[in-house]
Amino acid sequence: MEEKLLAAEQTLQKYGQEHLLNSFNSLSKEKQAELLDAILTTDFKQMQELYETTKIKTNFENVKLEPIAHVTKSELSSEELAKYTSLGEDAIKAGKLAVVTMAGGQGTRLGHDGPKGTFDLGLDSHKSIFEILCDTMKEACEKYKVTIPWYLMTSDANNESTIQFWKDNNYFGYPKEAISFFIQGKLPMIDTNGKILLDEDGTIKQAADGHGGIFEAMRKNGVLYDMKEKGIEWIYIGGVDNVLAKMVDPVLTGLAISQRTLMAGKSVVKANPQEKVGVFCKKDNRPNVIEYTEISKELAEAVDERGELLYGESHILCNQFHLSALEKISQNKLPYHVAFKKASYLSDKGEVIKPTEPNAYKFEAFLFDAFSTVDNMSILRVKREDEFAPVKNAKGVDSPETARALYKAFYHMN
Ligand code: UTP
Repeated sequence: MEEKLLAAEQTLQKYGQEHLLNSFNSLSKEKQAELLDAILTTDFKQMQELYETTKIKTNFENVKLEPIAHVTKSELSSEELAKYTSLGEDAIKAGKLAVVTMAGGQGTRLGHDGPKGTFDLGLDSHKSIFEILCDTMKEACEKYKVTIPWYLMTSDANNESTIQFWKDNNYFGYPKEAISFFIQGKLPMIDTNGKILLDEDGTIKQAADGHGGIFEAMRKNGVLYDMKEKGIEWIYIGGVDNVLAKMVDPVLTGLAISQRTLMAGKSVVKANPQEKVGVFCKKDNRPNVIEYTEISKELAEAVDERGELLYGESHILCNQFHLSALEKISQNKLPYHVAFKKASYLSDKGEVIKPTEPNAYKFEAFLFDAFSTVDNMSILRVKREDEFAPVKNAKGVDSPETARALYKAFYHMN
């Protein structure tokens, strides 16, 4: 312990973060050890660099922006549909598809006490979001006579409770051996002066590193090796909070095979130019997503000769990657984006502070930043009412109420 403490002191001094040991003596031996380990494994140089990025205003003006080509599922000819379906079904039946569900988020907007997947959607059956997704997976396994490996990404904050929930519910009848959990990475949170925050328990305040953390997490946790050993070629990656997500879609897989692309994504038409969603596009000739905060009013409203929005393919976090693409992406770090959030912390005087206004920077990687590592990706436009019922907010737009209504309409429930 002495040696570690000395090493920690030296590191903190070098980076002006000495305050992290202010409450050290009042901590239990266990927490002291935890704090020292956290200090010794933190990349302070990276944190310093990330703090510098909070002062830079991103300039989108010099980016060359273009719409991206897409295929509309409902407008495919019967020959095209049959071709994609058959290519995709062959791959799925041969066991070449795996599904990854990202469930590491904090779900702050929903405000549910527990992992978002454990939230009861309010159906008569009182099924949780996890069970609803599991129903979709079971149906696909039955249809294609295959057990699809299913990986769930959690975060430090919700890993234990997530695993416990699945155990308690006997994996909702999904083959237990086909389900694996892995934990995403995390990064310290800092205040407006670049000082790393202490958590209420006296250890470093850390937050999940965003859904873009998935690639590194898959490599570090051996998920990519596991997939390779199983002969998996295509990996669907989606969020936990879309209760109408169709994770196993032969048309999406078949489209990527047919177009010889390594990435594919599903889109739904943007409800209106002002809708707060990111849209697929090409940035500097490569696939990407432009966020609603980045796109000009003029471009957001621009239409083509059919009167359709030029930038109207909403990104719904339903994407598919070839294993070789994941292997490549996971070798490099994606850029981090900064968010200013409310975060409780332990003050220098050892008091727990619960701010009412945002006070801390959180750094997150975005999954879609990986799209630009390929020249082209396949975009499949699907119907919103068939495949997109997100649970984001506690009330109003994209809330349990709207998702429940969409779910019931799709399954013809009363
Ligand atoms: P969101 O961006 O909607 O974040 O995540 P969230 O954490 O669920 O909700 P808010 O913003 O705090 O209210 C979209 C998907 O990405 C996953 C989420 O679990 C969700 O499925 N995600 C997000 C992660 O797995 N890890 C992260 O670090 C962030």
